[in-house]
This record gives sequence, C-alpha cells and structure tokens, in this order.
Amino acid sequence: MAALEGRTALITGVSGAIGGELARVFGREGAKVIGTYRSRREAAEAALAGIPGERRTLLQAGFGGGDSARDLWTRALEQGDVDTVVVNAAAMASTPLVGDDAEWDAGWQRSLQVNVIAASTLMREAASAFAERQRGSIIAVSSWAAEQGSRIPDLGGYAASKAALRNFAQTLARAYARSGVRVYTIAPGVVDGGMGTADLDPDEVRAVAEGLAMGQHVAVSEIAELAAFLASDRCPSLTGSTIDLNGASYIR
Ligand SMILES: NC(=O)c1ccc[n+]([C@@H]2O[C@H](COP(=O)([O-])OP(=O)(O)OC[C@H]3O[C@@H](n4cnc5c(N)ncnc54)[C@H](OP(=O)(O)O)[C@@H]3O)[C@@H](O)[C@H]2O)c1
Repeated sequence: MAALEGRTALITGVSGAIGGELARVFGREGAKVIGTYRSRREAAEAALAGIPGERRTLLQAGFGGGDSARDLWTRALEQGDVDTVVVNAAAMASTPLVGDDAEWDAGWQRSLQVNVIAASTLMREAASAFAERQRGSIIAVSSWAAEQGSRIPDLGGYAASKAALRNFAQTLARAYARSGVRVYTIAPGVVDGGMGTADLDPDEVRAVAEGLAMGQHVAVSEIAELAAFLASDRCPSLTGSTIDLNGASYIR
C-alpha cells in the first residue's frame, strides 16, 4: 500500500517549483491532493496532471490580504477531511537595505502578509480542526535563511518572515502535542529551481552551486520526499523539529 493512501493533503503553491514536486510525490504516494495556485493556473494543472482525477483538486488562492487563508481552509474542507497541510506558497519580496523606501515598505508588508500572517492563519485553522479529530500534520516550508539571515542583503525581510513562520510552527507543535497534531518545519538550502534560481542565468546557477558544500543545489524532489515521509506519521516525535536540508552548507 502506498504510504499516503486514503489521506488528503492540502498543498499551497503547487504552481511553483517545490509545490509542483510536492503534489507529484504526494500523488504518487496515494494521497488525494488539493493544490493551490495564485496566478499560474497552467503550471498548477501540470503539477496535478499525473494524479487520477478523483484524487486531485485545484483551488485558486492568493494570500495578499483579507480572509484569504480562512477562506481557503473552508473551501478545502468542502472536499472532505484534510489530513495534512503543506504550507509552501511564499513571496520573495525585496527589502533593499539602502535606497527605495517604498520598495522597503511594500516588501516587508508582502513578506509578512503572505509568508507569516496568511501561512500562520492557515496553520491555526488546520491545527484546530486536526485537534478535534486527534490527528493531522502540518508541514511548514521555511528556509535556511531563517536560521542564519539571508546572504543576500536585500532579502532580509524574506528571511525574517521565514524565521517567524518557523517560530510559530514551534509554538503550534508544543500547544497541540497531546492532541495528535504534528507540526514540522523543513528548512531547505539553495534549491535547483523556483525562487532561488528564478533571476539567474545558467552560469550564475553553476557558480552558486560551486559555492555550496556538496557542489550542487538541493533537489526539489528531496523536499517533496521528506514532506511525504513526515506526512506518513511514521516519526511523530519529530513534531516541533526543523529539518535542515542543505547538503552540509549550514550545520547547526
Ligand atoms: N527555491 C529555493 O531556493 C528555496 C529555498 C528555501 C526555501 N524555499 C521555500 O520553498 C517554498 C516554495 O518556493 P519555490 O522555490 O517553489 O517558489 P516558486 O517557484 O516561486 O513558487 C512560489 C509559489 O507560491 C505562490 N505564491 C506566491 N505569492 C503568493 C501569494 N501572494 N498568495 C498565494 N500564493 C502565492 C506562487 O503562486 P503563483 O506562481 O501561482 O503565483 C507559487 O505557487 C517557499 O516557501 C520558499 O520560501 C525555497
């Protein structure tokens, strides 16, 4: 039997590089996947395409403000019980240390709204529902930048938002530890796709890889495989943990 057969996973941001792979791996492991996208519907559809129709649902959800996260949770539950939420969607907004004040203000607001407020609200809704059923897991995708600050000065707001997300996951894990709710944080290093490489040409991507301990990026598949393992409930005592996935470039 596949590890996640009979389970339903809500995965945010399946139109992105990591979210798309999360959807594929959870689908392969037998889960019913409810995937969200904000603007790239085609990419989201492609990510779910290999999952049988009765096990896939696509929802549009932008986390720019208002009640978007609560509204998403309500719409997800219309599909039936949810067993796992992977909080993956995020914005990487620039917060330049020097110069443009408007960009600084907007970057912080976007980072906090999307990566912290909406993400934490979704986690809060899920944890409360999971506690009633005495089971469920929440997986927050943070970043190694949350642990050590960004190496890119203009991404301080993004890094801080990821630290806030990780910190809230820890509070949630402790609060619900006796209620069957498991909360995990994955902290990837530099990944071979998505926001880490989006603005780089192939030579720049290679140069970044050279600077990493393993001489290569983290594969999106590694994040997805780890998340599927966590969702399988095989190691519930990992709740509250942050699992580093950075190929020894940053060791605590
Ligand atoms: N790539 C890396 O090197 C790296 C490293 C460490 C951690 N991470 C983390 O991994 C996760 C996924 O990153 P990725 O590299 O896969 O990024 P990506 O390819 O840029 O995908 C980002 C996803 O988030 C969604 N999104 C962006 N803004 C949104 C908003 N305002 N409301 C709702 N959804 C929104 C996007 O939706 P649309 O595309 O449909 O607009 C997309 O699905 C993020 O949490 C990121 O912080 C990435």
